[in-house]
Amino acid sequence: KPLVIAIDGPSGSGKSSVSKAVAKRLGLAFLDTGAMYRALTWHCLNGRIDLHDAAAVEAAARTISLEQNLTPEGEFVKVNGITVTEPIRDPEISKNVSAVATNLGARKELVRRQQAVIAQCGHRIVVEGRDITTVVAPQAQARLILTASEEARMRRRGLQLGGTQSAEQLVQQVLARDAKDSTVVDFQRAADGVYTVDSSDLDFEETVTAVINVVRS
Ligand code: CDP
Repeated sequence: KPLVIAIDGPSGSGKSSVSKAVAKRLGLAFLDTGAMYRALTWHCLNGRIDLHDAAAVEAAARTISLEQNLTPEGEFVKVNGITVTEPIRDPEISKNVSAVATNLGARKELVRRQQAVIAQCGHRIVVEGRDITTVVAPQAQARLILTASEEARMRRRGLQLGGTQSAEQLVQQVLARDAKDSTVVDFQRAADGVYTVDSSDLDFEETVTAVINVVRS
């Protein structure tokens, strides 16, 4: 029986770890779509493709080979055969990823690939990102947005306003990324039929349970 669970939310909402735990608990495949945007960004920076050359970035999106694990256990991402699991988490990638994510041609191609993965997994998968509930899998059996207060999101990243200067800078970078991302995908507000789980006052296990309760409702 098909069971696609679409989860969107901003940076630091706990989306990735919660989505993985839900997939494990329900025995479903798992797709981190953010890793695809990060991998494409890594490829462009590595190959000196100008991130603001829309046609070049779109062409890269169409031609690169992307491989990633489709299970909630472990993690690997490969671009054209090169393992980039760790480098795609570098601050340099986080800082530049919105330039790729706001490229509509590249988005179209990555969305197409994401939909192919969902089909390949027999429509039994947890997919997490920014536009899964609205664009990638609007027909999903369960769709939800995971939110958390700004304070809770920064706390989870080990950051605090009024902390050290570098923490302060990271907070500003995360907020700037969310603001840029919001110009192309509205992941802050739930579309019709999409549930919202606010994890600000929930611990990890409570959040997983809340998501599973939505799936079962
Ligand atoms: O680090 P964080 O969990 O906040 O982000 P991520 O899920 O790894 O996604 C990285 C970036 O990819 C986001 O900031 C967006 O720019 C982009 N993204 C997107 O545009 N659409 C998606 N479905 C997933 C990610």
